[in-house]
Amino acid sequence: MKEFKRTLITTALPYANGPVHIGHLAGVYVPADIYARYLRLKGEEVLLIGGSDEHGVPITIKARKEGVTPQDIVDRYHTIIKDSFEEFGISFDVYGRTSSKTHSRTASDFFRRLYDKGEFVEKTSMQLYDEEAGQFLADRYVTGKCPHCGAEGAYGDQCEACGTSLNATDLIDPRSAITGSVPVMRETTHFYLPLDKWQTRLEKWILEEHKEWKPNVYGQCKSWLDLGLQPRAVSRDLDWGIPVPVEGADGKVLYVWFDAPIGYISNTIDLVGDDYEKWWKDQDTRMIHFIGKDNIVFHCIVFPAMLMADGSFNLPDNVPANEFLNLEDDKISTSRNWAVWLHEYLRDFPGKQDVLRYVLTANAPETKDNNFTWKDFQARNNNELVAILGNFVNRAMVLDHKYFAGKVPSCSQLGEMDLAVMEEVSGACAAASDELDHFKFREALRQAMNVARAGNKYLADTEPWKLWKTDPERVGTILNVALQICANLAVLFEPFTPFMSADLCRMLGLGKISWNMLGHFDLLAEGAEVAEPHLLFDKIEDAPVEAQVKRLLDTRTANELAGWSPEPLKEECSFEDFEKVDIRVGKVLSCEKVKKSKKLLQFLIDDGMEKRTILSGIAQSYEDPSVLVGKEVCFVANFAPRKMMGIESQGMIMSAVNPDGTLTVISPSAEVKPGAQVG
Ligand code: MF3
Ligand code: ZN
Repeated sequence: MKEFKRTLITTALPYANGPVHIGHLAGVYVPADIYARYLRLKGEEVLLIGGSDEHGVPITIKARKEGVTPQDIVDRYHTIIKDSFEEFGISFDVYGRTSSKTHSRTASDFFRRLYDKGEFVEKTSMQLYDEEAGQFLADRYVTGKCPHCGAEGAYGDQCEACGTSLNATDLIDPRSAITGSVPVMRETTHFYLPLDKWQTRLEKWILEEHKEWKPNVYGQCKSWLDLGLQPRAVSRDLDWGIPVPVEGADGKVLYVWFDAPIGYISNTIDLVGDDYEKWWKDQDTRMIHFIGKDNIVFHCIVFPAMLMADGSFNLPDNVPANEFLNLEDDKISTSRNWAVWLHEYLRDFPGKQDVLRYVLTANAPETKDNNFTWKDFQARNNNELVAILGNFVNRAMVLDHKYFAGKVPSCSQLGEMDLAVMEEVSGACAAASDELDHFKFREALRQAMNVARAGNKYLADTEPWKLWKTDPERVGTILNVALQICANLAVLFEPFTPFMSADLCRMLGLGKISWNMLGHFDLLAEGAEVAEPHLLFDKIEDAPVEAQVKRLLDTRTANELAGWSPEPLKEECSFEDFEKVDIRVGKVLSCEKVKKSKKLLQFLIDDGMEKRTILSGIAQSYEDPSVLVGKEVCFVANFAPRKMMGIESQGMIMSAVNPDGTLTVISPSAEVKPGAQVG
């Protein structure tokens, strides 16, 4: 494998049209930060580049909705996003923004260089235009009826009902999602990057020279390449973005996906000035892009083609893209507010950044989509961070204070158990490094936790508290080894849980740490002082976790209500038809669940003449059916008898269907004589 002198790490620039959530953190920023911290601890030269992506249509639409300018929107969210990352310890060397001067100059120059080299083709086509908004419509912003399945509300790029990919011009009865007006066709000319020109080079570079890329990344690239690459438009008709720096291109801006990745370059320039060439053009520098799976094509195909077209930049060495994180078994969605927002987490769990970093890494969507649940969050905190890691460190330090007044005891003769635990710790540290080298962060974290597990087991096996009276020297040796393991943990966990690591370093009196300290057991000098210990992690009780789950359930209910509309009316029905149905009021004499049935309730009704049994499929809506006893209900009295679960039902209880599918029994608004007709 090629040796590199330095590593440039980039992280996808989040759109500054909303705050960031746990999905962003798990997919991109925590893994990138772990990797950057790991390399820094190894003494390598590294830059971690981030920033906000401040162009694109969604930002203009949000601004229009709120009656503010796009700049207002990006100013607001850039600050929120930047602060969230800082609070979570994402150790960016620079966090820039694509509305900066440096960026528009850099992106504009980049475009112009390619233009001057003749790397673009210009093409004229008909596109949908919203006359009311005065702008062309991206496919996503046109909705209409799907030409394949007839579903309403299909998007111009895809029908979500049948999954077919569409062109906005295929939609039946198209509408602008911005103003609701009917779009018209208008001619427009754009600049295209002919990706087909780079097909062969991209194939060789990815499919042959980068077989080591993650299977999900490699696979996606292969299927794009197998389909055959097409020219891609890199300009848009829009008034928000970087103007196309070509005469006669008034009203056109660079397509957001053209300018955003150049943000990695401009943010580097903002940080190091002209030195940026060392990071972008030197053969001894390698570049790693951390992104989510929806960004793969842009980082593995489009941006590399742009870099190839320029000819002077390095291509990425690896693109360890992650899959998606779901929340409580449902896709994270900004529009449905189905997310855990980082700024809200910080408010609800102050000081617990490491816990979230830990849980998101232990459960990272590295190879497949994964699921975040609040129960798992609580369990991992209580059963792993508290019970394994925190507990071990605390035991070692408390024992040391008890027997040696907080001084590191001297280590004499090492026995079998001591050597065994040292070997185990060294082995796990080496394994963690190896996993980190291969971007396998969850496995690396599991190895790190194994060190704490080994420590706990060591104390349980050696039982120093039983030896104090007879062999204090042996106790000293055991606690020396245990404290050295604590020091190893402080180093090993730094990339994952940097706040805890800094805390532990302070307690142990460890100064500057480095990765090559791992596997060594002389990190703390004999006689050195360790501080009075405090717990590294606190138990998380049920109440705060239940509060989060409740918030999500409330969100789900609100979404259901917001999306609910009454069923369309049935076909017209004549008076004669209606007259056939004999609806009556009856009094509920008893009501209970039918055994072995989830749905059925068995009613005994006084219908004014006799008692009749009626079964009704509403058990899931009435946890305690006895609340219905004594109530008057409406029922269809001349319904043909039907047998269910061996019981004959003589009628049908009437109930209303709620938006969430639950049922509510219909009762008269005042007392009525049983047997009274309803009509
Ligand atoms: N803003 C994009 C997204 O959130 C990512 C841009 S990555 C960059 O999907 F390379 F373009 F910067
Ligand atoms: Zn369809």
